[in-house]
Formats: sequence, C-alpha cells, structure tokens
Amino acid sequence: EQTEPTIHRGLAGVVVDTTSVSMVNPETNSLTYRGYPVQQLAAACTFEEVAYLIWHGELPDPGQLEAFTADERSRRAISPELQQVLLAMPTDCHPMDVLRTAVSWIGAADPTEEDASPEANLAKSVDLLAKLPTVVALDQRRRQGREPIAPDPELAYTPNFFRMCFGEVPGDDVLRAFDVSLILYAEHSFNASTFTARVVTSTLSDLHSAVTAAIGALKGPLHGGANEAVMHTLDEIGTADRVSGWLDEALATKRKIMGFGHRVYKNGDSRVPTMQAELDKITADGRAGDLRATYDALGAEMLARKSIHPNLDYPSGLVYHLMGFETAVFTPIFVMSRITGWTAHVMEQLAGNALIRPLSSYVGPAERAVPPRS
Ligand code: SDX
Repeated sequence: EQTEPTIHRGLAGVVVDTTSVSMVNPETNSLTYRGYPVQQLAAACTFEEVAYLIWHGELPDPGQLEAFTADERSRRAISPELQQVLLAMPTDCHPMDVLRTAVSWIGAADPTEEDASPEANLAKSVDLLAKLPTVVALDQRRRQGREPIAPDPELAYTPNFFRMCFGEVPGDDVLRAFDVSLILYAEHSFNASTFTARVVTSTLSDLHSAVTAAIGALKGPLHGGANEAVMHTLDEIGTADRVSGWLDEALATKRKIMGFGHRVYKNGDSRVPTMQAELDKITADGRAGDLRATYDALGAEMLARKSIHPNLDYPSGLVYHLMGFETAVFTPIFVMSRITGWTAHVMEQLAGNALIRPLSSYVGPAERAVPPRS
C-alpha cells in the first residue's frame, strides 16, 4: 500500500538547494550578500559596487570598479531596432510587459545567446544591468509623448537613470535614497522570481529566457508588484483618519494588505529599517504631506491589530512616488536592481546544475476508459 506523500504547498519551508550568493536569517533578522550585512553595504557602497560583489563574490578594488563601471557605461545604448519594438508597444500596457519584451528581444539579438560559459553569462548580465534603465526611461517618456533621452556615459548609474527619465539629476539625498533602494532590492535568496530563473536555467535554457521568466514572476502583486500596489492602497485610503475604517473593511473581506507580511520574515523584514531611514530623510521637509501620515498610520494599525510587519515594498513604494516616478514604474525599478541577483543565481545554478522537476500528488478522476466517439 502507498503511503500518502507529504505536500509542501508553495514549497513553504522546503530547502531546495545550497547557495553562496546571499543568506536570509529570519531568527536574527539578518540578510547578507556574500557574507556582508546588507545594512553595512547600504551605508558604505554604491549600487555598482554591490552589483560587482553579487557577481564576483568580493567587493571590487578601485581598478576593478573602474573597469566594471566603464563596461557598464559603454553598454547602455539600445539599438534603433529595439527602440522601434518598444515604441510599437501599446501605450496602456504595463511597463513590466515592455521590460519583459525588451529582455526577450535583447536575447534574440545577442549572438552569444547560446554561450553558457561563465564569462559570456557575466557579460550578458552586465549588458542587461546597463540597458534596463535605458528601456525603463524610454518607456516612461514615450507614454508621456516625450522623446527619449540618450544615456550619458559621463554619469554614474543612478544619476544617468534620473537624467534619462526626467531630463535632470536630482539632489544627493534623492540619489542616495535611490541607490540604497537598489542595494536592498538586489538579492534575496530563493524568492519566487529567482527560483523561476533557476527553474528555467535548470533545463539548460539561456540566460535571457531565465530573466524574461523572472520578470513575469516578479510582476505579480504577491511578489514585486506589491511596491506598486502599496501606492494604490495609500491613494485608496486617502487621509490618515480614514485608515482605521478602511482596514476594518479590508480585513473583514480578507483582503491582503499590500506591502505587509513575508513568507520568510515573521518579525519584520531586515531591509525595512534602512529604507525607512531614507524615507525619513527625504520626507523631513514635509514634502510627503498627508501621504506620510497615512503611511505611518497604516503601518501602526497593521502591527497593533494583526502583528504583521511591513516588507521592503512598503517604504520603497512611497519613496519612489516622492521621487516623481509614476506608480507603474516601481516594479521595473525593482527589476533594474534584482537583475544582479537573478543572474548570479543563473550562473550558480549552471555551475552545479540539477534539473528542477518536483512531483505532484494526483487528485483527479480515477483511471477510466475513453468512451466510444461517434
Ligand atoms: C516580496 O520572498 C522574498 O524574498 C520576496 C521579496 C524579495 O526580496 O524577493 O522579499 C519581495 O515579494 C515581498 C512581499 C510582497 N508582497 C506583498 O506585500 C503582498 C501582501 N503580502 C502577502 O499576501 C503575504 O504576506 C505574502 C504573499 C508576502 C506571504 O504570504 P504567505 O507566506 O503565503 O502567507 P499567507 O498569505 O498564507 O499568510 C499567513 C497569514 C494569513 O492569515 P490566516 O489565514 O493564517 O489567518 O497571515 C495573513 C494571511 O491572511 N497575512 C496577511 C498579510 N500577509 C499575511 N493578511 C493581510 N495582509 C497581508 N499582507
């Protein structure tokens, strides 16, 4: 007689493989990239240095950083053909759809697509890191009926992105807050989109296919799409005095409150305090107005009534809004950062590959004969 298999729905609590890219420890509420606490990286490093660390395993020395950033800066321009593809996309589609299409197109046009050597995959990863901001900025501007702004190789990654989006570079507080958000978003072990990338890679498919699939996984509101959904929630609630009543109804109808809760962290997301500190800095002048009060009130009520903590998407959604980004661009910004983690996992998966192919427990009709067809 067969014993009933144990079902691990959502793979909750299942350890699927080893990784040396990052470690999430919910007990100590810590997150390390290649051994370094993410809070220390956020305080001391640029996003470019952290990208290098995630891919190479060590922080760059000055010479390595210069070579890396020169490579990134030289790869930012997108081809006229890709521009045409992007300009032909519907203007009302989700920006994640545009990004997914762009990565798929970049893969199709890459002559090294089928070269799965670590060197080729690293070059493809830097290429995506460099080109994704160009795609995101072009997409934003075309929706506003504006001409794209070409990347400026004289500028570092973050100032160049702002210039391509808005035509100008903001103050240091905004640039720093944005860099910190990218550092915090860069990597988070076997989250749903990273695992998706590893599943695709495990069939020995190519890097761009893995990233395209990962973008699809990140789009959903239970995962990366939550930073966008947070803004919709804050808009829907309106002012701080409405939080209590809004939450009564939301909880009574079993709505999920976006930007709260986490599969792994149960006592708070390790990244939130660092992001919250950046939010505090950029809202110190009162520029957030009522939004900040609503944000604080919802956070306090969720904790008091449900003991559910915010995740990184909660502060980052508001931060991106205050920086002037349209809400639908928040998750593409997450992609600009997580491209580092995804591709590091693609390379790690390939280095010791095992096809990912779990089992299922069948609960459909018992075996039966096909009835005669007339
Ligand atoms: C990210 O994994 C990663 O690393 C992801 C990420 C990364 O860096 O890659 O950290 C990024 O995806 C952050 C999460 C973004 N998603 C959201 O903010 C969406 C809202 N949150 C949730 O729906 C939920 O908390 C999840 C999806 C994040 C986690 O869900 P689980 O682990 O499947 O847990 P669950 O949905 O089964 O919730 C357990 C209980 C339930 O109550 P009971 O049925 O047991 O009474 O907690 C409640 C849930 O209803 N709950 C919530 C809630 N989160 C959990 N109730 C209301 N609102 C919420 N947000």
